[in-house]
Amino acid sequence: MKILHLDSSIQADTSASRLLSAAVVDRLRATHDTTDLAYRDLAIAPLPHLTLPGLATDLAATVLDEFLGADIVVIGAPMYNFGIATQLKSWFDHILVANRTFRYGESGVEGLAGGKTVIVAISRGGIYSDGPAIPNEHAESHLRAMLGFIGITDAVFVVAEGVAYGPAQREAALQEAQAKIDRLLPLPVAA
Ligand SMILES: Cc1cc2nc3c(=O)[nH]c(=O)nc-3n(C[C@H](O)[C@H](O)[C@H](O)COP(=O)(O)O)c2cc1C
Repeated sequence: MKILHLDSSIQADTSASRLLSAAVVDRLRATHDTTDLAYRDLAIAPLPHLTLPGLATDLAATVLDEFLGADIVVIGAPMYNFGIATQLKSWFDHILVANRTFRYGESGVEGLAGGKTVIVAISRGGIYSDGPAIPNEHAESHLRAMLGFIGITDAVFVVAEGVAYGPAQREAALQEAQAKIDRLLPLPVAA
């Protein structure tokens, strides 16, 4: 299986989303026959912002082909200012491409990129799964919308939240996320 691993945190060693996306990939490699692993650090090597000429470059073709060729996509996604990192949005701008990953027809939109396994590791400082901040969650919901639009309606989200509430909450959130990773993998498909 071919894995595409993306990170987008602007932090390095202290990044929770990097820790979790790496944990997902480690477990995938331990439990599946992974023939190929491509890695993109979108914070260190950001893709250009969306422009019309920019969609016709060799880099854009490489990024799209890399996504289309992957069986499993693992995405590290920190919440910044209630949404995803701008660098991760730029990556999505390169893969949401008409007639490649979606098309419009008389009955509406059709996603063309279904059949992949997508695992997203989200980290967020606050708590959005419950309480007054629920309506301010625009990272996971945006990711679900973009992935669903291209036919990936069953993406799995591993979330560590409240990591800014102090070391104890951060540790508990990371442990809970790790436990979800351990339950999730190996995937119930032929390796
Ligand atoms: C620039 C910036 C903006 C942030 N915005 C939010 C936010 O809107 N909501 C939130 O809950 N946490 C916010 N945080 C906290 C991050 O979501 C939290 O630190 C998360 O762990 C970041 O992912 P990382 O650890 O992989 O870098 C922000 C952090 C930074 C650095």
